[in-house]
Amino acid sequence: MTKTRVLTGITTTGTPHLGNYVGAIKPAIEASQRPDVDSFYFLADLHALIKCQDPKRVQQSRLEIAATWLALGLDTDNAVFYRQSDIPEIPELTWMLSCVCSKGLMNRAHAYKAAVAENEELGHQDMDKGVSMGLFGYPVLMAADILMFNANKVPVGRDQIQHIEMARDMGGRFNHLYKGQYFTLPEAVVDDKVEVLNGLDGRKMSKSYNNTIPLFVSEKKLQKLVRKIKTNSLEPGEPKDPDSCTLFQIFSAFASVEETAAMRADYENGIGWGEAKDRVFEYLNVHLREPRERYNALLEDPGYIEDVLKQGAEKARAEAQPLMERVREVAGLGRFV
Ligand code: TRP
Repeated sequence: MTKTRVLTGITTTGTPHLGNYVGAIKPAIEASQRPDVDSFYFLADLHALIKCQDPKRVQQSRLEIAATWLALGLDTDNAVFYRQSDIPEIPELTWMLSCVCSKGLMNRAHAYKAAVAENEELGHQDMDKGVSMGLFGYPVLMAADILMFNANKVPVGRDQIQHIEMARDMGGRFNHLYKGQYFTLPEAVVDDKVEVLNGLDGRKMSKSYNNTIPLFVSEKKLQKLVRKIKTNSLEPGEPKDPDSCTLFQIFSAFASVEETAAMRADYENGIGWGEAKDRVFEYLNVHLREPRERYNALLEDPGYIEDVLKQGAEKARAEAQPLMERVREVAGLGRFV
């Protein structure tokens, strides 16, 4: 059976929240269990340095994200799970790709254009103020992540589609210039069925809006956060609209079809907000309890996580090294004898 190779990276800034779980982690873990899929999941810690120069936070976030994926049941026998910075071939390939990537292509990258637009808005003279080469060339590093492992499919959010197209562009250009099939051209996969969860204030749950519910906070904190979810001023007894309600949306992302239908009926029958919040909290708490315990145990044992990631890096490098060797060779960087 030829397997489809699925690859995705998680930038290691911040603490994973319910939205990350529903939108990315859960579907990725499920995909890794399919017999026709070969999964590569990695902690994009080189990418983290673009946004974050606080070493403690980079370190802590990597640990938390690794522990989260393992606690939620990622089986590393089914997936290659590694840390980007453990694969020196990735920055090496980044350079090779930089040399075949036009600057104009990078000028069109969304993240860079957004930074320029912000400078313009603020009336700055220098349109590139605050833009590092890391930010500017970010799509090249991302292309190296993907092309290094000949990924067929890359599950990403909508905002990342452009980067996958750029990776195709660079891979295709390298293949053409050096006349060979060195790189597989990847496809972005955006799953419309996967829900984008809303956060405490009703906007998309995102660390940049500071409206998240972290996955593994303590029971008490979870209860406090659920109580903070924005609702409206309807009184108990008044019918409520589940479809415009963040609380309901979060509940239904976790609950079964029957449980969701029952909650929907309760909304129509005028459940009070206090009671609805207690029920959602109870539900989440019961479902997160076990992985939360595993998560806390894993954080206490960073040596174990380190071993898991090292094994992942070995598997990943077994793929990366021979390809990098070929790429060096074809570009004229092979040995003399
Ligand atoms: N840039 C991606 C994000 O912010 C993370 C990422 C880095 C990635 N390298 C990748 C995603 C390679 C998919 C493939 O979400």
